[in-house]
Amino acid sequence: MQKQSLLYEGKAKKIYQTDDKQVYWVEYLDQATALNGLKKDSITGKGTLNNQITSAIFQELRKNKIESHFVEMISKTEQLIEAVTMFPLEVVVRNITAGSFAKRFGKEEGALLAFPVIEFYYKNDVLDDPMMNEDHIKVLEIATERQILEIKQQALQVNTALLALFAKADIRLVDFKLEFGQRADGTILLADEISPDTCRLWDATTNEHLDKDIYRRDLGDLIPVYKEVLARLTK
Ligand code: TMP
Repeated sequence: MQKQSLLYEGKAKKIYQTDDKQVYWVEYLDQATALNGLKKDSITGKGTLNNQITSAIFQELRKNKIESHFVEMISKTEQLIEAVTMFPLEVVVRNITAGSFAKRFGKEEGALLAFPVIEFYYKNDVLDDPMMNEDHIKVLEIATERQILEIKQQALQVNTALLALFAKADIRLVDFKLEFGQRADGTILLADEISPDTCRLWDATTNEHLDKDIYRRDLGDLIPVYKEVLARLTK
């Protein structure tokens, strides 16, 4: 497999084309950003950890019959993924109050929600990723009603599988963000990454943060925490 031209550079990943039209090559970077890129740092070792954690999680999901764009990890910082057309959506699933939900609705962090709450955000840096509802998604022709339903169903299945996976690692899955893509045949596929950058993970006993809130909230060094998550997931 030959790595070819750069297709997309995100805040923490670069995606390249390959000599196979169906496959992209992802490189995880040692970059951390918060506040839509206003806070930005290079953190040695972060790319390796997120690549390994994401790969381990996608492999585990596959064992639970949940497909994703993940093909294989090819080095400590790189993986191959299936080439899909991404929906410009961030799909957030919340099990426990935290982050922008707690802020928006004036709630304390840490309360168990009666059911998993799904939120959509429009992936658009210039607009600062505004929250959107299903009518917005339909009227802007980002996805059809049927596609939205499928995305929600898949997101809830991922939540069920991840809750069990993290519980085994003594971790509470507070909330997380997913992204989805579409194959040429229209199939909707889980994509992007699932890592401590994109999930809120709290230690099941102490509730200490095991995720990017360490960086967002200046709580200390992120690397030992991400190492701990990887160790617990792969023990
Ligand atoms: P929020 O509480 O800030 O809305 O975040 C909800 C979850 O989504 C949290 O686990 C972090 C994740 N997330 C991302 O992965 N990328 C983003 O750009 C944002 C805003 C949140």
